[in-house]
Amino acid sequence: MPNRSTFVTLASLVLDPSASIPLYRQLYSALRAAILAGRLKAGARLPATRALAAEFGISRNTVMNAYAQLLAEGYVEGEVGSGTYVARTLPDELLHARASATHAPQQTQAGRMLSRRGALLGEARVATPRFPGELKAFRPGVPALDAFPYELWARLVARRWRRPQRSLLGYGDPAGYRPLREAIATYLGEARAVRCEAEQVIVVAGSQQALDLTARLLLDEGDAAWIEDPGYLGARGAFLGAGATLVPVPVDGEGLDVAAGKARNPEARLIYVSPSHQYPYGVTMSLPRRLALLEWASRAGAWVLEDDYDSEYRYAGRPLAALQGLDSEGRVIYLGTFSKVLFPALRLGYMVVPPDLVAVFAAARALVDRHSPTLDQAALADFIADGHFARHIRRMRALYAERQAILVEATTHELAGALDVSPAEAGMHLVGWLREGVNDVDASRQAATHGVEAPPLSLYSLEPPRRGGLLLGYTAVAEKEIREGVRRLAKALRTLRPRA
Ligand SMILES: Cc1ncc(COP(=O)(O)O)c(C=O)c1O
Repeated sequence: MPNRSTFVTLASLVLDPSASIPLYRQLYSALRAAILAGRLKAGARLPATRALAAEFGISRNTVMNAYAQLLAEGYVEGEVGSGTYVARTLPDELLHARASATHAPQQTQAGRMLSRRGALLGEARVATPRFPGELKAFRPGVPALDAFPYELWARLVARRWRRPQRSLLGYGDPAGYRPLREAIATYLGEARAVRCEAEQVIVVAGSQQALDLTARLLLDEGDAAWIEDPGYLGARGAFLGAGATLVPVPVDGEGLDVAAGKARNPEARLIYVSPSHQYPYGVTMSLPRRLALLEWASRAGAWVLEDDYDSEYRYAGRPLAALQGLDSEGRVIYLGTFSKVLFPALRLGYMVVPPDLVAVFAAARALVDRHSPTLDQAALADFIADGHFARHIRRMRALYAERQAILVEATTHELAGALDVSPAEAGMHLVGWLREGVNDVDASRQAATHGVEAPPLSLYSLEPPRRGGLLLGYTAVAEKEIREGVRRLAKALRTLRPRA
């Protein structure tokens, strides 16, 4: 039974049936604010949907929708219909958000109204580095900035700037600089078996922009979107910003569990997947799953958004070709980025869209920010055409394999019993599994106090992960820092006890 204080807290909620914001959304926002402000305490049981509906004179469906959204975002646990409780572990970022959640989320701190989209974007969780500005072990997703060929890059950029073609200094094609689109199409065809013409390639400001554009163009408010759980926060935030209803779909050893997705919501408009190297678990989606996903998408008339963010880094085994290459119906939108091969601050990525979507994506891109800087695109096209891109990938593959081996060796030695770390065939990070019962948010916080950055798996999870884990990026820092990071992590984890 919910205790009296839960009812007292909820009795003060005000819902306005005449407002343009749907009632379920108002209820969701009010409950979320109460949780973040600590007025609804961790573990508190929410009233039964029927009781709350009766209390407010609203339909039970409204309450169920609000609870479902809270569940999807990790604010509550349990099953809608058989007991819903405030989540016991609110990930750090939620706790940090507490200060700003004491006022209604649709308003700014000064009480001014935001658009619905603005309110939704403001609510989305964004992963921020623990140590901004400092590159510490084990920041995931950042390439070896100590091994980039800066001199060479500077030469290529300077060559473009010294005598710039006038035609490259005006407004460019919103879909991107043509020679770069051609180079990307050739690379993707050869390296990833992506089937596309250069016309289908749209250069974007990193894959985050591709996620945003896709959400704007293909999702309406209330549409269901399947997302991997745990999964990439950048995708989650973009879909939430579009007002989509997130459907967390579990991931197992074969990748996204298509059957579980179908059971949870058979009518999704869009599915987000990272089949080459699932973020953050790191599994590769099996071929039967890929086929099942495409078959389901075809039946449901859904779009598939394939995020191929770090497929360049495979150290063993044969890479599976991109999902896009298996698609015969033009349902897959393919995303890639230069953030992981060159560096994130370049803000260049690409998407491959079916031919009938090219014009609308290019038009949207033009309206958002016109296009990416043309001379950077030209320098990158030169980098690829002159063979430096392929050479750099080969060098980084060898370096990252080495760094991963150092991390595995050091953790096996220093962290045995506290953190299980196994080698992986691909990617830029490993998942270190904690002992049963050890809370990963506690572990991550403890690691931070020892100067180590190791985000908890639950940060990326809507439903509690099957076991707590820490993400350990191994590409960004050199051997000495990896070893030092492992020593510090061992010290940090030594003090942690499983929760009762
Ligand atoms: C799953 C995933 N997709 C995409 C990206 C790349 O983002 P961007 O291209 O916007 O830098 C990342 C980077 O962390 C990622 O982890």
